[in-house]
Amino acid sequence: MTYPRVRKAVFPVAGLGTRFLPATKAMAKEMLTVLDRPLIQHAVDEAARAGIEQFIFVNGRGKHAIDDHFDLAFELDRTLELRGKTVELGRSRDMVPAPGNVISVRQQQPLGLGHAVWCARRAVGGEPFAVFLPDDLVLGDDPCIGQLIRLHERTGGNVVAVQDVPREHAGRYGVIDAGEDDGRAVEVRGLVEKPEPAVSPSTLAIIGRYVLLPEIFERLEERRPTAAGEIQLTDAMARMIDHAPFHGLRFTGTRFDCGTKLGFLQANLAYGLRDPDVGADLAVFAGNELRDRD
Ligand code: UTP
Repeated sequence: MTYPRVRKAVFPVAGLGTRFLPATKAMAKEMLTVLDRPLIQHAVDEAARAGIEQFIFVNGRGKHAIDDHFDLAFELDRTLELRGKTVELGRSRDMVPAPGNVISVRQQQPLGLGHAVWCARRAVGGEPFAVFLPDDLVLGDDPCIGQLIRLHERTGGNVVAVQDVPREHAGRYGVIDAGEDDGRAVEVRGLVEKPEPAVSPSTLAIIGRYVLLPEIFERLEERRPTAAGEIQLTDAMARMIDHAPFHGLRFTGTRFDCGTKLGFLQANLAYGLRDPDVGADLAVFAGNELRDRD
């Protein structure tokens, strides 16, 4: 079967963000900022750089700030205009996608990542699409999702981003059972969610970038909740393996797990050190802090 090119991306942002409480009590985790923009904007920027045209947010309760962030802010923009603050005006306005290109879908209950993706089925329709978990921030010149899309265009199948992790961490991720491996693309023979590290089929962990065929929605429709009542994306993806080619891609770029405090701080440091305005001063500060600690 031939599919149209990947034009749509789904951003599941309806999770509770419990690991970041109290910061996430009244504010979505995806609005936490790395350097000068929220995590969700880093993800949307990556998608746009890879040619994605439509951005589908799967929102939960209290996530209005995400929709507002990608809307025009008339009063703010008008004030900036009147004050002649053109650079700031550009920063506020230029990141807003074209009218009609942002779609918001509600996940009424946080029933898991698989359920969140399923909630986007009508907005996606019958075409392959990208999924972004905005917690995972990937720093690099070649957008991670663009690398996955290129592999999908070659194979016609599903592609997930994978990363080698220490075996003792395998239990934190979905892990692939690896088949043929050319050093970058790895055939996926099976998928296991959060395996016991000792019996994990590999140490190749799935991180938050996917290109999926629309048939995933039928697998999600079958609804096989876990003991905790969640519908897993990994489980539905595992049932796609016999249907179409399925690969993991060792992408180029540095991934930060911004769903954890350490990963979030590392991301801020890495982005800060590369920033032309603050990088040099931040490096001196960080160096002094390290010296004072010793
Ligand atoms: P996480 O496992 O990181 O969960 O979800 P979380 O609720 O966001 O954060 P913690 O673990 O409580 O700190 C992975 C991704 O799936 C989305 C989240 O928003 C996040 O982007 N998600 C998860 C949903 O959209 N709906 C769900 O029901 C669960």
